[in-house]
Amino acid sequence: MIREADIVLPYGVIKGDIAIEGEKISALGNVPGRAKKEIIASGMLAFPGFIDAHVHFSLPVSGTRTADDFASGSLSALFGGVTTFIDFTVSAFGGTLAENIEARLSEARESVADYTFHAEITSWNRKKSWEIESAIEKGITSFKFFMTYEDSGRRTDKGKLYHAFSEIAKLGGVALVHAEDEELVKYFTDLLIEKGKLNVRLFPKSRPPIVEAMAIEDALFLARETGVNLYVVHVSTAAGAEIIEKGKMEGITVYAETAPHYLILTEGDFSELVSMCPPLRRREDSIALWEFLSKGVLSVVATDHCSFSPAQKKSSKDFRNVPMGIPGVETLFPLLFTHGYANGKLSLVKLSEILSANPAKIFGLYPRKGVLSVGSDADIVLVDPSREVKLKASCFHSNAGYTPYEGMELKGFPNIVISRGEVVIEEERFLGNRGRGKFLKREVSRS
Ligand code: URP
Ligand code: ZN
Ligand code: ZN
Repeated sequence: MIREADIVLPYGVIKGDIAIEGEKISALGNVPGRAKKEIIASGMLAFPGFIDAHVHFSLPVSGTRTADDFASGSLSALFGGVTTFIDFTVSAFGGTLAENIEARLSEARESVADYTFHAEITSWNRKKSWEIESAIEKGITSFKFFMTYEDSGRRTDKGKLYHAFSEIAKLGGVALVHAEDEELVKYFTDLLIEKGKLNVRLFPKSRPPIVEAMAIEDALFLARETGVNLYVVHVSTAAGAEIIEKGKMEGITVYAETAPHYLILTEGDFSELVSMCPPLRRREDSIALWEFLSKGVLSVVATDHCSFSPAQKKSSKDFRNVPMGIPGVETLFPLLFTHGYANGKLSLVKLSEILSANPAKIFGLYPRKGVLSVGSDADIVLVDPSREVKLKASCFHSNAGYTPYEGMELKGFPNIVISRGEVVIEEERFLGNRGRGKFLKREVSRS
């Protein structure tokens, strides 16, 4: 039983108690009687466990593998209050979607947080339609496509996207796109190659905002025609978000996500260690992204956690060979709490929507996850809003060994994290067992 917390509910914040029975919330409000274990949480905020809808643990890419596997990545997640994460199946070794799901399930067995996957699709053809249905039967209802990354064989062209989107639409699934226009990427990259300007710090020049905006425009055309539920991952530009807003106004079912680094860092922060794709943008873009978030054009913030050690990041000076991506799952909530809520940009309810309810609704996890309500999983994050922490890489649980936010002072690190009724983080210690995380079978979205 949690007593006297400021409970963040979908319609406001109330002071009250949260009773837990087994893995579920059994009562909320003024709960009489005494429980076996009581946590006095006065002065603390109680949030529904956060959901990071975009992480890459144990990802083979660029001739290497991410520093975090499911054990370290999920531990890092829990320390940041992320009780559920959505990773991706891996298609690099061929196989059907069902085989890729089985392989990923076996890798994720070490996870300490709950999880599901988006099914990554990189070699679509018209004979594969049945695979969508087989994935949905296995509880995987969202499908990820890349509009770029031709060189590594991951790109899906527009004809194939049209067909795949039509098939996903028939079954009510969600199509995710990494939206960058391949032809423009090639044009801007070739200009840099001609001048021998391939240092990683110049990577943003190979992908200016038009690259993202044009691909989003194309994805929206395809969504309008096929009727698919579209989700645009890691939107980094004001131009991209504006196109999404227009699409929404036309009635297209399009959801969009941004990441903390696009909200908080800018192009000057881009470096060997702080390098990701899409790259960081101008200050004007990050200011605009906050506005698009507060008015609901962007409905989710997820981290795109894709961690590599400094040695991996520095293995090449040529941006074409640098593994792109940064660690972030542990700082998701503190960054948004400090830069969003404490700075007056987002209310507590909005914060909770963006980090819990919206991803749960879009990806078919609601109301089991994403809300504090009777019958929901007891995933609860207790936060003392006045506690401030100065970030030091050595305090993190990711194997990356660095944080892009070193030295930043942040509020919002959880004091206590409860996952399915079990106190898993308390006094900065992990109290659970390895492999305690559960695979979450999903159903097609009801949002
Ligand atoms: O740089 C990034 N974001 N790496 C992860 C892969 C992706 O495109 O999301
Ligand atoms: Zn991506
Ligand atoms: Zn990603």
